[in-house]
Amino acid sequence: MKKSKALEISYTELDSREDLSAEELNLLELAEKARDKAYSPYSGFSVGASLLLENGEIFTGSNQENSSFPAGICAERTAIFAARANYPDVVIKTVCITAKGSEYIKENPVTPCGICRQVFSEYEHLQKKPFKVILASEKGKLLTYDKSEYLLPFSFYSDHLND
Ligand code: THU
Repeated sequence: MKKSKALEISYTELDSREDLSAEELNLLELAEKARDKAYSPYSGFSVGASLLLENGEIFTGSNQENSSFPAGICAERTAIFAARANYPDVVIKTVCITAKGSEYIKENPVTPCGICRQVFSEYEHLQKKPFKVILASEKGKLLTYDKSEYLLPFSFYSDHLND
């Protein structure tokens, strides 16, 4: 038997940062501060991420490049690994990402790469609770997702490894 199915992915488009809550705006401003500390001499593209835990702690990160290109790491993973390393048992509530360095990103939200989506997916499954993802442009639109799963449906996770 063959059955076609459709998947619904919902997200919200915001015209400007003024449509964010105070808590989310604070996260965006912290992500921008982190972005401005990126080490991205090779791409010229700077990314900042901030992450709010349920205990109120905030972690930030920026992309860190390397002359051996594959050794570099994205802003999102810098932030989420730092959070997880310090508070392995605390639930992640919100992640915010912003960038600078291209015309496109001035008006359009930056969207995380596949590896970062996979890392988000691991921790979202682990904490058994969705976290919100906010994707910001430099000065224009934003996108928000109530679950990181919406950014990577059908992801590979630990259950797949179990018997
Ligand atoms: N980058 C991030 O930090 N996050 C993303 O989601 C996309 C890409 C970084 C990696 C590299 O340093 C630069 O942006 C260009 O790809």
